[in-house]
Amino acid sequence: MSKVILISGASSGIGEATARILAKAGHKVFLGARREDRLKALSSEIGAGYAVLDVTSRESFQSFVDAAVAEHGHVDVLVNNAGVMPLSLMDSLKVDEWDRMVDVNIKGVLNGIAAVLPLFTGGGHVVNVASIGAHLVTPTAAVYCATKYAVWALSEGLRQERDDLRVTVISPGVTESELADTITEDHAASFMAEYRKNALPASAIGDAIAYAISQPETVDVNEIVVRPVADR
Ligand SMILES: NC(=O)c1ccc[n+]([C@@H]2O[C@H](COP(=O)([O-])OP(=O)(O)OC[C@H]3O[C@@H](n4cnc5c(N)ncnc54)[C@H](OP(=O)(O)O)[C@@H]3O)[C@@H](O)[C@H]2O)c1
Repeated sequence: MSKVILISGASSGIGEATARILAKAGHKVFLGARREDRLKALSSEIGAGYAVLDVTSRESFQSFVDAAVAEHGHVDVLVNNAGVMPLSLMDSLKVDEWDRMVDVNIKGVLNGIAAVLPLFTGGGHVVNVASIGAHLVTPTAAVYCATKYAVWALSEGLRQERDDLRVTVISPGVTESELADTITEDHAASFMAEYRKNALPASAIGDAIAYAISQPETVDVNEIVVRPVADR
């Protein structure tokens, strides 16, 4: 069945790959991110709609959802995928980067949930992209992991509160994308450059998202963790 699927952070990496896979499967995909040039090019390539979206703004997320409803009449699925990962040691006190991770990775997900919940009266599906960082913590990733633990908790709480809603957490391991480009601390950047050599293609995460969406309406895939084979 063709669904109306909204994807935040669709201008690169996992969001872009997911959009390609879902559009190819015949869904009506609606793309959101800040870089309009990227959205425009992708939307004309795959036949999707798009609107500029800053997930940190409640108003921007509402306008994004409104634009999708204006185009398609309703929303079936929201993929809360936008995220940033400027890793650093806590001692470095990069407090602006802490704020940005909280704003994008937690508040961005909440803003998305707030914008679609009123539409999801008789069903609906929220897919939140967390991380293996929702299950384990490593040095330089304290704040990032905290935001992803929060995404996991929000998803589980929402799932328990609503009998008519499907809620899925997707927890990727290292995946090819632009995510590490936001790191400004040398120590974290050089560690990540090595760590990220063993990475999944972004399509591997897109396939997992497509799998969760494609299940029967009575089936809620609660979480999928996807790692490269050799990841410990
Ligand atoms: N790649 C990995 O190894 C990995 C592992 C675990 C989890 N994840 C998660 O996967 C998700 C996607 O990341 P990615 O790996 O695909 O990285 P990416 O290539 O950097 O993509 C991140 C996306 O988020 C968007 N974004 C950032 N800030 C935004 C904002 N304020 N408003 C709207 N969109 C915003 C970016 O678009 P604009 O800059 O155009 O706004 C971009 O499309 C993230 O939640 C990330 O934490 C990734």
